[in-house]
Amino acid sequence: METFQFLWIICLLSGELICGGVAQLVHCNAAEREALLDLKMGLNDSWNRLSSWHGTNCCQWSGIACHNTTGAVLAVDLPNSSGRQPLGGEIRPSLAKLKSLKHLDLSGNNFTGKIPHFLSSLENLQYLNLSYAGFSGAIPPNLGNLSSLQFLDVSYWGLTVDNLEWVSGLLSLKYLAMNSVHLSKLGGEWIEPLNKLPLLSELHLEYCGLSGFSYSLPSLNFTSLKVLNLQGSLFKAKLPTWLANISSLVSVDIGNSMLTGRIPLGFGELPNLQSLKLNYNLKLSASCFQLFARSWKKIQILDLSINGLHGRLPTLLGNMTSLIHFDLHFNYIEGGIPSSIGKLSNLQYIDLYLNNLTGSLPDSIGQLRNLVELRLNVTCFKVPFLLLLETYSV
Ligand SMILES: *[C@@H]1O[C@H](CO)[C@@H](O)[C@H](O)[C@H]1NC(C)=O
Ligand SMILES: *[C@@H]1O[C@H](CO)[C@@H](O)[C@H](O)[C@H]1NC(C)=O
Ligand SMILES: *[C@@H]1O[C@H](CO)[C@@H](O)[C@H](O)[C@H]1NC(C)=O
Ligand SMILES: *[C@@H]1O[C@H](CO)[C@@H](O)[C@H](O)[C@H]1NC(C)=O
Ligand SMILES: *[C@@H]1O[C@H](CO)[C@@H](O)[C@H](O)[C@H]1NC(C)=O
Ligand SMILES: *[C@@H]1O[C@H](CO)[C@@H](O)[C@H](O)[C@H]1NC(C)=O
Ligand SMILES: *[C@@H]1O[C@H](CO)[C@@H](O)[C@H](O)[C@H]1NC(C)=O
Ligand SMILES: *[C@@H]1O[C@H](CO)[C@@H](O)[C@H](O)[C@H]1NC(C)=O
Ligand SMILES: *[C@@H]1O[C@H](CO)[C@@H](O)[C@H](O)[C@H]1NC(C)=O
Ligand SMILES: *[C@@H]1O[C@H](CO)[C@@H](O)[C@H](O)[C@H]1NC(C)=O
Ligand SMILES: *[C@@H]1O[C@H](CO)[C@@H](O)[C@H](O)[C@H]1NC(C)=O
Repeated sequence: METFQFLWIICLLSGELICGGVAQLVHCNAAEREALLDLKMGLNDSWNRLSSWHGTNCCQWSGIACHNTTGAVLAVDLPNSSGRQPLGGEIRPSLAKLKSLKHLDLSGNNFTGKIPHFLSSLENLQYLNLSYAGFSGAIPPNLGNLSSLQFLDVSYWGLTVDNLEWVSGLLSLKYLAMNSVHLSKLGGEWIEPLNKLPLLSELHLEYCGLSGFSYSLPSLNFTSLKVLNLQGSLFKAKLPTWLANISSLVSVDIGNSMLTGRIPLGFGELPNLQSLKLNYNLKLSASCFQLFARSWKKIQILDLSINGLHGRLPTLLGNMTSLIHFDLHFNYIEGGIPSSIGKLSNLQYIDLYLNNLTGSLPDSIGQLRNLVELRLNVTCFKVPFLLLLETYSV
């Protein structure tokens, strides 16, 4: 204990030099050093990013981090960085010798071929980022063996998945991103394996060509899900009502996804929901009068533009007091703008352009002190001109 404090005092007094010396006390083991050197041999490093990869202590090489007492390699962190040439070449199986590895980031590089199947033997991995790394073809199902994995990002348009069952083996998973991966063959069956991940908090499946939903789940296991991003899907189907029953949801984006049918009213009762984007689904409908009469307790961002919303805006709209961004443009909303809109004191942006609204702008709009932009039909009004607005009809 005393020695430890002593070191800290030296560190504080003399800055980086001696602290660097303390770090040098940790030494990587020879076998892991050899594994890294072999890995380097396989790589095409035209920018010389790995020029520090020589000498005996691999713990000091760039992109490598070691355990502070055992010296075991814990992280290989080699994402493409802007302004540099990406790494290319092959990932040699020597990587699998780093048995303590917890963090592997190869994102944004220019590798070729498939995702190496031997990654599945890195059983201590907690973070794996292979997004936009150039690997293509089927994602190897044996990645499902990585039961300690908490973060997995395999986003890339060159990758495909024909069967997602393996994901249910990732029992520690908190964050999954597979943006742009071809998932269209899964139909509605992408849900079940994900529903077995009790800790899953963020799910990003944008532009994956998802083409359906399961409408009945035996039980809803998504108890931790906060962020759900499925935009750019090809559902051609209605939203399942169970989706609006996941009370942990904070942010949902299923824009541009060919949704049909009605927006489940349950979204308006989700106690934690702050952002809901269901824009640009064209045929998605809702009665505004019913939808905006829900509690919407924490809603800040609501984008339901370019859909088939109809009916009148209810006075209860004025209860959505957390609203900051409200976009309903290009729908079939009728009637007037309720004067209760003046109660939405956090509102910064409101777009009602291209609807069937009638009447005049309520005076209460003048109470919206945070308003930056108001768009109604063809004209874009900026707040400095707000006082002039009151004479304009909608
Ligand atoms: C190495 O990368 C450079 C540029 O990134 C490329 O021109 C070259 O063909 C690559 N060499 C091999 C052997 O892949
Ligand atoms: C070593 O790392 C652990 C956690 O990774 C940390 O709690 C501990 O304080 C570190 N020890 C030293 C001497 O830096
Ligand atoms: C990698 O870095 C290069 C050079 O900065 C950049 O041109 C390229 O877009 C990056 N690739 C990715 C996938 O980020
Ligand atoms: C990516 O690798 C290929 C060879 O595999 C090479 O032709 C190309 O120039 C590389 N791209 C970049 C940005 O380095
Ligand atoms: C993976 O890497 C990319 C690019 O380096 C980054 O944008 C993305 O957030 C990373 N994913 C995770 C889960 O950290
Ligand atoms: C890894 O997963 C594959 C298939 O998903 C399985 O056949 C294999 O036994 C697993 N290997 C280990 C070491 O658990
Ligand atoms: C819910 O999760 C548990 C634990 O992962 C799993 O055993 C169960 O099968 C899941 N239920 C459904 C309906 O998938
Ligand atoms: C939604 O939750 C309510 C109350 O918890 C429950 O009665 C209802 O069956 C659930 N609906 C679905 C579709 O899961
Ligand atoms: C709307 O807000 C008023 C007061 O701000 C409250 O009395 C009323 O219960 C709320 N109505 C609903 C349906 O939440
Ligand atoms: C909305 O207005 C358009 C064009 O003015 C009209 O064709 C349409 O019937 C109106 N829809 C409703 C629901 O009133
Ligand atoms: C809104 O603008 C469009 C396009 O200029 C016009 O056709 C429509 O009649 C306008 N609607 C109303 C309600 O003024």
